[in-house]
Amino acid sequence: MARCSKMKPLPPFFFLFYFLVVVQFLSARSFFSMASNVTYNRRALLIEGKPRVLISGSIHYPRSTPEMWPDLIRKSKDGGLDVVETYVFWNLHEPVRNQYDFGGRKDLVRFVKTVAEAGLYVHLRIGPYVCAEWNYGGFPVWLHFIPGIKFRTDNGPFKAEMQRFTAKIVNMMQQENLYASQGGPIILSQIENEYGNVQSSYGSASAKSYISWAASMATSLDTGVPWVMCQQDDAPDPIINTCNGFYCDQFTPNSANKPKMWTENWSGWYLQFGGRTPYRPVEDLAFAVARFFQRGGTFQNYYMYHGGTNFGHTSGGPFITTSYDYDAPIDEYGIIRQPKWGHLTDLHKAIKLCEEALLSADPTSPSLGPNLEAHVYKTNSGKCAAFLANIGTQSTASVTFNGKTYQLPPWSVSILPDCQNVVFNTAQINSQSTTVEALYLNSAPQSSDKPAASSISSPSDWTFVNEPIGISKDNAFKKNGLLEQISTTSDSTDYLWYSISIDVNGSESFLNGPLQSNLHIESLGHVLHVFVNGIHSGSAQGTKISFDNPIVFSPGSNKIDLLSATVGLQNYGAFFDLTGAGITGPVQLRGQKGTLDLSSEEWTYQVGLKGESSGLYSSSLNSSDWVSLPNIPKNQPLIWYKASFAAPDGNDPIIIDFTGMGKGEVWINGQSIGRYWPTNFASQNGCNSCSYKGSYNSDKCLKNCGKPSQQLYHLPRSMVQSGSNTMVLFEEIGGNPEQISFAIKQVKSICGYVSESHPAPLVESELPFQKTTMNSTPLLKLECPYPNQLISSINFASFGTPSGECGGFSHGQCSSDRALDVVKKECLGLKSCSISVSPNVFGDPCEKVIKSLAVEAACS
Ligand code: GAL
Repeated sequence: MARCSKMKPLPPFFFLFYFLVVVQFLSARSFFSMASNVTYNRRALLIEGKPRVLISGSIHYPRSTPEMWPDLIRKSKDGGLDVVETYVFWNLHEPVRNQYDFGGRKDLVRFVKTVAEAGLYVHLRIGPYVCAEWNYGGFPVWLHFIPGIKFRTDNGPFKAEMQRFTAKIVNMMQQENLYASQGGPIILSQIENEYGNVQSSYGSASAKSYISWAASMATSLDTGVPWVMCQQDDAPDPIINTCNGFYCDQFTPNSANKPKMWTENWSGWYLQFGGRTPYRPVEDLAFAVARFFQRGGTFQNYYMYHGGTNFGHTSGGPFITTSYDYDAPIDEYGIIRQPKWGHLTDLHKAIKLCEEALLSADPTSPSLGPNLEAHVYKTNSGKCAAFLANIGTQSTASVTFNGKTYQLPPWSVSILPDCQNVVFNTAQINSQSTTVEALYLNSAPQSSDKPAASSISSPSDWTFVNEPIGISKDNAFKKNGLLEQISTTSDSTDYLWYSISIDVNGSESFLNGPLQSNLHIESLGHVLHVFVNGIHSGSAQGTKISFDNPIVFSPGSNKIDLLSATVGLQNYGAFFDLTGAGITGPVQLRGQKGTLDLSSEEWTYQVGLKGESSGLYSSSLNSSDWVSLPNIPKNQPLIWYKASFAAPDGNDPIIIDFTGMGKGEVWINGQSIGRYWPTNFASQNGCNSCSYKGSYNSDKCLKNCGKPSQQLYHLPRSMVQSGSNTMVLFEEIGGNPEQISFAIKQVKSICGYVSESHPAPLVESELPFQKTTMNSTPLLKLECPYPNQLISSINFASFGTPSGECGGFSHGQCSSDRALDVVKKECLGLKSCSISVSPNVFGDPCEKVIKSLAVEAACS
């Protein structure tokens, strides 16, 4: 049984707060039953005439499962979001022209309704070009084959298709009454996406008329809510042009009548196979948000709030990983990422306390000194909110404001919702942090970095099918010359075989020595595997592959089989749709005395793999092709594997660890989890420690150097069943499937690190516009992450000058010897606890030094 936390007697105010929460909960279902008029003015979006400060976060519905949505949305609401934003993914919904699919993860209506049920608003970014590291930027590949089509410009066939799909989505939403104007949650919609970044390449006249067409097409659909275009300086009225970027405080909309809105504040960055893992320190993210509201912004969206997973072939790129974690406040697996989520939650509360003042009038900016900036917002009735920023990156500034002195850490903003008390500073984290670990299942190979969970097995009963090298299907065809891959496969598969035979007698000028030559291949990628007479003779990857390898022939006829694989189609840039892929040549045999150019010879082509055509990945198909042997083949290219496994017990998210495998794709019970590629390593360099201070960019903070870019893959709970499950793999380059292991993901420990100099927390702050009562001292708060858990051990506690991070704290020179006892007494056996960070509690181990309290605890 969970016990109550230790708490002081509750103030009457507390009961009022909970009464209001309950009332709101009870009315959540009918939250949107009244039609709301959504408009805007120069300061903000107006909902029912009332200007609003809105915090939004991106969750792309197909990057998680419908079973995960309610929990993700609840965590978003608890994190202080008002709005959930999603793109709409055209190629997901219309895989074949005029054949729509809105089932399962594609159930957009269900997603929007799930957000509504939580009482949050929706920003629906229809695009339909979305970028998003999504295959082909969201465009269906069939679009490419429409005669005369030119994407994203003033082109009749393109505009007709774009309008048809946009109208289809709008109608669907209208039929379900999902626009705010109909009583639904959708308050905003986007047309196009960042066209302004590329439009100069399309010619100014065409670009201009395309954008003005897109604007009037969108407005003519009569959604009753405003439309936005992001990164589109010339967005025509009434479309609001919005900002995307790591910082948007400098942004101004293109008309004095439009509010300052930020549609993509990148909470981290995406990961590529072969890349290091980007992360964005929350102190900088919070700084960017606070600066935006300080300087007049009123709508801000985190891209991403939950990044999720690129299941199947949905990732773009090329080379975008299956994980789309993004270092978002909720991680790929749906676990709250701390202290990111918690620090931003505190920030949102602080901003909301300023809402009335922020929206009342333009600010004044009293001068504080170089690199310092104050903005003061006052209502007519005398309410006052202030933002004090130190934009310098070097040192804490001591500033005098309204007659009081404030310490502003470098690269930080302090928020004073009453112009007196600092309730939040972006660089001072009061929120709990956590460590998260993968617990491996017993029968997996264990080591100290792979701790074991208590239960069940890894996959067993492995069987296999060899994928033939070269042409094996009946529908192979011959063509003179080298074919571009996407036009040939229509992206129905990642794979295209190019095959040719040549006779060699030993006297040819393209030979270098006895029956040897150099094979030269140029390809647009993304991965090339070369086989000569059925033997693997080299591989290469990239988007401009230049392959050169010596090869050996046999006398007589020789077969050259080239397998070209795509790894997600291009999603960004002018004319990205025309980038192409595959072996476009030349392909040559280069000898000392001459070259044989094979480029325009007759080639035999096979679209896709034999195993794909026979549906080996489908779990329902019990093909007799599967071979079982006491020792299955390992480290062999082009092979299908199948095994059964029991899913780990419980509700924790499941991880598949692909250590030991090469590159390929995995299906669980017939559903593709995505491409795996654990042999693609991040470079050794560039993971130096990174300071939150100073401008962030996507290369600034990187981790995971020298390791596989992605080794762990998310298997959503809803894709497994109790009892036996089937795993099918297609392995392209060779691996050992018996090394694959399963793990579950859990929060391991909870930590706090709070300094005496941090702002004291908001006590009665949850209700907007109420006067806050300030605690006199900062508090360190701990809370167990799972229901029914209690704090079971205190693994570290230090009051003084401790250093390190959660999972690796150490004592400093100054350290109170009471710390561990005090924390144990206050926290053990409770679900949550709060401790004053003060010498009154711990004694003073070093006078005149600013002290901090660091605690690491475990729950069970
Ligand atoms: C933006 C784009 C998003 C996403 C992001 C990077 O430019 O609008 O869709 O691609 O970059 O993650």
